[in-house]
Amino acid sequence: MSRVRFDYTHVMSDLIGPEHGVTDSDLQVEAPHAGAALKSVLARREEDLRWLDLPYQTAVHDEILEYAASVKGRFKNVVVLGIGGSALGNIALHDALNGPFHNLNPPEGIPRLFVLDNIDAELIAGFLESFDVTETLFNVISKSGGTAETMSQFLIFREAILQKLGADALKDQMVITTDEKNGVLREIVGREGYRSFIVPDGVGGRFSVLSPVGLLPAALVGIDIKALCAGAAEMDERCRSTDILKNPALLHSSIQTLMHRDKDKNISVMFSYSHRLKSMADWYAQLLAESIGKRKSKEGKDIYTGPTPVRAVGVTDQHSQVQLYVEGTEDKWFTFLSVDEPDVNVTIPKAFDDLEGVSYLGGRTLTELFQAERDGTRIALAEAERPTATIHFDKVDAHAIGQLIFMLELSVAVMGEHYKVDAFDQPGVEAGKVAAYALMGRDGYEERRAEIESSKGDWKTREV
Ligand code: PA5
Repeated sequence: MSRVRFDYTHVMSDLIGPEHGVTDSDLQVEAPHAGAALKSVLARREEDLRWLDLPYQTAVHDEILEYAASVKGRFKNVVVLGIGGSALGNIALHDALNGPFHNLNPPEGIPRLFVLDNIDAELIAGFLESFDVTETLFNVISKSGGTAETMSQFLIFREAILQKLGADALKDQMVITTDEKNGVLREIVGREGYRSFIVPDGVGGRFSVLSPVGLLPAALVGIDIKALCAGAAEMDERCRSTDILKNPALLHSSIQTLMHRDKDKNISVMFSYSHRLKSMADWYAQLLAESIGKRKSKEGKDIYTGPTPVRAVGVTDQHSQVQLYVEGTEDKWFTFLSVDEPDVNVTIPKAFDDLEGVSYLGGRTLTELFQAERDGTRIALAEAERPTATIHFDKVDAHAIGQLIFMLELSVAVMGEHYKVDAFDQPGVEAGKVAAYALMGRDGYEERRAEIESSKGDWKTREV
């Protein structure tokens, strides 16, 4: 069974020096706070933090698998209509577990997956032109059931199905994932009789990948959701310990806090040395940014806090960002995602024996080269006193991805205690949604629209 490990060797001062590194005594000082933070998060498991319990919802997992089996072989495409927490986890699971070329050549009976997490007209029009809706199952996902982007996509694709196939086809070609009772999407489910799945209470968008939000599309494209949830449950067990040195989530959240608070590293780079894991870094960027990036403390004081997440991919970004990382401003710390044993290997052919500049590669494997570049980057960062932690995977499979997801979700929840913010709200996101509703002339938002319009009077356009 694969086991995800959190390696913090290269954040320690004995390797990278005292100015940027952490000491054992720093960790000891942090340990009681971390333990208390963990207890207060876990105490809310049965209350508002129901996402902690998602790995154990076996009846829901079975219901998803039954539905997936019932539509197996009927569709060439599954299209997710959703955004933010209703999309990023789906992309991450698909890229990690089905790989980048699944859609070119999916296994027999398994559809391709597309996640349309934008409303750029060129994207949506391009999709309508390129795909036959009759071969497509649309999974509309919205926790609130009212997000303008997702609802407009729903209306567009619903109309496309109506035009092409008529009203009777709607129920076969659309499946909805939303709140059990609230939101206009739930109301529409009731009116039009769509098959639907529930985003449970206490499961916010960015913590929802192990709910039907992520599990339904995953099951539809052949991902082993039971293994995913078993991995998450295993990490949950490991993360019950209040001993900071035994609990990967606790240690990760404490190091993030120490790096930011004591070492001025306000940028947190997730550097994926695995092409398949690169979208996990996108998913984590949202988790960290929306959870910890807050103006107000829990007590209501203005604190304007939060680390800035950055995503990088090895080895690609060695030729783009690593110069900055090794020699630029000392405001970053790094979490590498690293795979010990990739599923496949490729041997570089031997040729041009007389040309030393290329002959040293012949007969070696791409994995050797990839790992040498990864380790070379870590060494260069360490020699420049830049802190790096590594999340190691024996291999990338559903069990390991479940572990990673749970570890990072819990880490961020505990970070909320360290940063003294509510990690589960998103007033900044809501503010943007409200402004968009007002600008679109939605009923009930007249006052906000008037405010925006009147402030526009003060704007002086400056262009060149
Ligand atoms: O994490 C969050 O809460 C947000 O990113 C939401 O997922 C995003 O705004 C989409 O919201 P909804 O799922 O309600 O349509």
